[in-house]
Amino acid sequence: MDYSLETGPLDTLLCDCLILGVYQDQQLSTSAKSLNESTQELIKKILARGDIAGKNGETVLINAVPSKTIDRILLVGLGENQPLTTKNFRKALLASINSLKKTTISTVVCNLSDCAVSGMDGAWKTRQIVEVFSDTVYQFTTCKTNKETDYNIKQLIITSTDNELTLSEQGLQQGKAIAEGINLTKYLADLPGNICTPSFLAEQALALGKTYSTLDVSVLEEADMEKLGMGALLSVSRGSRQPAKLITLNYQGGEKNTKPIVLIGKGLTFDAGGISLKQAPGMDEMKYDMCGGASVLGTLLAAAQMKLPLNIIGLVPTSENMPDGDANKPGDILTSMAGKTIEVLNTDAEGRLLLCDTLTYAERFNPDVVIDLATLTGACLVALGRVPSGLLGNNDELCDSLIAASITANDSLWRLPLWEEYQEQLKSNFADLANVGGKDAGTITAACFLSHFAENFNWAHLDIAGTAWRSGNNKGATGRPVPLLSQYLINRAYD
Ligand code: BES
Ligand code: MN
Ligand code: ZN
Repeated sequence: MDYSLETGPLDTLLCDCLILGVYQDQQLSTSAKSLNESTQELIKKILARGDIAGKNGETVLINAVPSKTIDRILLVGLGENQPLTTKNFRKALLASINSLKKTTISTVVCNLSDCAVSGMDGAWKTRQIVEVFSDTVYQFTTCKTNKETDYNIKQLIITSTDNELTLSEQGLQQGKAIAEGINLTKYLADLPGNICTPSFLAEQALALGKTYSTLDVSVLEEADMEKLGMGALLSVSRGSRQPAKLITLNYQGGEKNTKPIVLIGKGLTFDAGGISLKQAPGMDEMKYDMCGGASVLGTLLAAAQMKLPLNIIGLVPTSENMPDGDANKPGDILTSMAGKTIEVLNTDAEGRLLLCDTLTYAERFNPDVVIDLATLTGACLVALGRVPSGLLGNNDELCDSLIAASITANDSLWRLPLWEEYQEQLKSNFADLANVGGKDAGTITAACFLSHFAENFNWAHLDIAGTAWRSGNNKGATGRPVPLLSQYLINRAYD
């Protein structure tokens, strides 16, 4: 899709459809008033019929317009005539895009940038419009013979004003970069496990490195990891015919000596559970167990495209978790790269085995902060559902900045406590740590496990088990938490 900005009067913009907001009690914005005048009072006439009151999310498509430039007008309700909440802004936006589904509309002008949103500037509005459009029209067709999708939108023109143009341009550039990052993340996540293997992910990362000169990508093979002593990570891939990889994406946009932000993403391209085999229903969704890794790739793409003045390291440990004659067995004891021994009480708690060695590996980059993202625990879904991602960490300042970014990006987080009392649950009679902490507080004990490998830096852990994809009829990857991470990076770069 092509995204652009226009500052001219609405009736000069050539399009198949113009998206125009209407406030509650049928009040028109200034630009809507002038369009009403140039279309022989069309909008007022439609409103007079009472088909739309202006409640948030209501829509009416006007299919015939007395105008040489505009073919259709989609009226969308905004709610009360005052600055919109960020949620209502997105709701109105989403409702408008949904009404363009299954139409032939190809060129769209979106004027919702015109309405005030409390606490947000023109850059935010433009960024959100791009992100929500791109997200809504995304459909995974790679593996279908018929590649037709529900939308025909090819061009989106967002309105701006001379005063706001600089901010709008900034928002457009960032929105496009983030949307592209989200698209890559969703695409990789939606690919099936037989196509998106650890080797495939590594190739995709290397291809990203070829596209962006600021991005250096390298891949460690199992033999390299053996030399590093990554006994926990390698124990998981031993049960699979696919070799594990450890992908490093090194983005150098900042000064040479500034400490990097390290992002680590869990990259299980399929998690069958290993010998502690998962149940059959819904097991297909464990192709999504690489969403953390895919989000690291998507976020680095966005950062490189935005040319952020930061140094960022992306690390993606990737493997399958399968049952096999050589797989981990319950009771096995592993030695991690950090030297700590781990008793595997459940082979399905494999994510933390990959992450712990990757956290240790992250030390060599002398990180400013380390943030890991992982579809780590089903318990996170029980605790928080599919609304926020879980957040745990050893540094309040880092957690607070992530929460602030999550609010701006509309990609929410909720912090859970990482109190030492929970560490009790990880005691093992035979090794330094058990890899599971029993049925209580599963998300917290998983983070407690990781905390033993994150003692030497500021660290936050995002459990994205409930947010990285949707189940049911609408099954598909969401691209979260790329929006929140991109916002965090933007804030780090410019605040
Ligand atoms: N990838 C899963 C977590 C998961 C399950 C995410 C369902 C989303 C939906 C992870 O590897 C796992 O299997 N975790 C176990 C941990 C348990 C054995 C302590 C789980 O959640 O059941
Ligand atoms: Mn598992
Ligand atoms: Zn897993």
